Amino acid sequence: RLRLPAMTNNLTTTNRHSHLSARNSAVLKRKAVVIGEAVASDDADRIFPDQDFAQQAHVPNFEKYLEMYTRSIEDPAGFWSEMADSFYWKKKWGQQVNSENLDITKGNIKIEWFKGGITNICYNCLDRNIESGNGEKIAIHWEGNDRGVDDSLTYNQLLDRVCQLANYLKESGVKKGDSVIIYLPMLMELPISMLACARIGAVHSVVFAGFSAESLEQRIIDCKPKIVITCNAVKRGTKVINLKDIVDSALSESSQNGVHVDLCLTYANELAKKREDTKWQKERDVWWQDVVPKCSTKCDVEWVDAEDPLFLLYTSGSTGKPKGVLHTTGGYMVYTAATFKYAFDYKPSDIYWCTADCGWITGHSYVAYGPLLNGATVLVYEGVPNYPDPGRCWDIVDKYKVTIFYTAPTLVRSLMRDGNEYVTRYSRKSLRVLGSVGEPINPSAWRWFYDVVGDSRCPISDTWWQTETGGFMITPLPGAWPQKPGSATFPFFGVQPAIVDEKGKEMEGECSGYLCVKASWPGAFRTLFGDHERYETTYFSAFPGYYFSGDGCSRDKDGYYWLTGRVDDVINVSGHRIGTAEVESALVSHPKCAEAAVVGVEHEVKGQCIYAFVTPVEGVEYSEDLKKSLVLSVRTNIGAFAAPDKIHWAPGLPKTRSGKIMRRILRKIASRQLDELGDTSTLADPNVVDQLIALADS
Ligand code: PRX
Repeated sequence: RLRLPAMTNNLTTTNRHSHLSARNSAVLKRKAVVIGEAVASDDADRIFPDQDFAQQAHVPNFEKYLEMYTRSIEDPAGFWSEMADSFYWKKKWGQQVNSENLDITKGNIKIEWFKGGITNICYNCLDRNIESGNGEKIAIHWEGNDRGVDDSLTYNQLLDRVCQLANYLKESGVKKGDSVIIYLPMLMELPISMLACARIGAVHSVVFAGFSAESLEQRIIDCKPKIVITCNAVKRGTKVINLKDIVDSALSESSQNGVHVDLCLTYANELAKKREDTKWQKERDVWWQDVVPKCSTKCDVEWVDAEDPLFLLYTSGSTGKPKGVLHTTGGYMVYTAATFKYAFDYKPSDIYWCTADCGWITGHSYVAYGPLLNGATVLVYEGVPNYPDPGRCWDIVDKYKVTIFYTAPTLVRSLMRDGNEYVTRYSRKSLRVLGSVGEPINPSAWRWFYDVVGDSRCPISDTWWQTETGGFMITPLPGAWPQKPGSATFPFFGVQPAIVDEKGKEMEGECSGYLCVKASWPGAFRTLFGDHERYETTYFSAFPGYYFSGDGCSRDKDGYYWLTGRVDDVINVSGHRIGTAEVESALVSHPKCAEAAVVGVEHEVKGQCIYAFVTPVEGVEYSEDLKKSLVLSVRTNIGAFAAPDKIHWAPGLPKTRSGKIMRRILRKIASRQLDELGDTSTLADPNVVDQLIALADS
């Protein structure tokens, strides 16, 4: 019997492995072990690819995948050089394509790909596609918050806009290597700003426009941008959010902390707020529309080394301070382009929509760079997905004939709750591939997405990856093998996942443990900005020899990977990654909070929600008002998306005698699994647990 994911019954001979020659099957059997002891399954809970889909797919069957995967592992340099050859390089990279060491015990971690190669990612996204005849193709369709408000840009027009901004940035003194903070909502000006920075070799740092002034200030202080790009306001649903006010406050605070930014380029989003109603600092603020359109639409490219930084993106970790994840140019370019093409089976006729915001990594890699590198038509939506009603997404899908729709499980679950009627009243016939990202997708949400949204005909790419990985790591390739609802299935080319036990020993076959990666891949981040030591200790020292993802994972008897969520102190709320320590420090900054401990608890729609145990300072009474003001403290410190769902009063916290908070116990109390508290005898004061239980619903 072949040790491959079983492809029986529903498949015709063209894409089942039964026709493989004996020699091939022996080779594949050996190779399958590489991706995890896959064995033929008798499990009925699999969804087989449609035969017509598989036949047209880039990777039509598992055999082809294994062939490509094996090559990518045995000859990474050759494999990735070929992928890189589809891009324009002013100068080819040197002899060595990549550096391999991920073993901290053997020396410092210094990942490099295509070092010495000279290129530019903006050139490859725009000029290259225009030169190959796609100048008049739509690059971006933009759909505004309100129905009937829309816009679009062809590749030619996008290049013009990018060049104008790039010229303005240059005139304003932004040089190669300088950082630029972009605090914009999903206007076309957001990808335009990213590309303009890339064109001149500046390092962009997009800050999600849902972050508070304090979070923005923290990032400004860390990366010291030459300029901040923002807009005056944005409409999200029925609300108007005054982004410029947030920027004003962040800039004045950062200035007081020694980091002064001279220029704040502000796009006037007149649909949300008039210019004259916007607070203005004449010596610092400039309206985008007053200066950028006057600049030339021609801007020479700044050619950069493959290892020159492309962007910084701050993300949450186990400790309080957000980490500046740094991605460089060449490897990221090749990796995001390849993953986009294969994991969505992208074809030039596709209309692609990813609902993520460019403020997160998904928006970087799969709204902007990956699709544009492939010359795709991308839809950018400004608003909220259920405004004015829960049918908006499908209305947009029909309006633009979207073929690939990529979103997060939290949205799937929320739309599922609103009922099928909102979906089925739209045709959705154009859809051919669906995608999911950000958190594990529970099988029932998967089924609904598949059956109701995709009319049981569109494969779902459940893509597991991280800010740090740059692009997809474990993902289905649509059409290539049967799917299992809730499993991200198999590794992408070049990715060698390893599931290790507590001691760091790699396990084979069916198992569960910590998800690591064994060798470097082109899209990997290269450092944490300004703190390479933290990079090495956070990611490479827990299990020497491996990159440690922070996720738990199991592999089933068929070799399919199942992500089980974070194993560290990171919570995943609606696909947003939030560090418990960040929320705790926001709570503790409240003058009436003595101590706080935050855990994640399962939530029907959000996946996880934030549950905070709070000890008020001596003499302070518990009250609903205090709860509200504690939640407000998190909103102003981090942003509304990190607001705790529950504040649980805690006269004391369960600590060991050495003072360590036992979060395991807090998690059990928070999820009301009171009969599973386990051993509490090692606590300094075991009575604390009874007190917490008594206060659970107060
Ligand atoms: O826990 C995993 C979860 O999201 C984390 C990464 O968060 P972030 O860096 O913000 O990037 C999100 C978008 C890539 C991971 O450590 N995660 C992401 N995708 C999946 C997932 N968990 C399960 N299945 C996924 N498909």
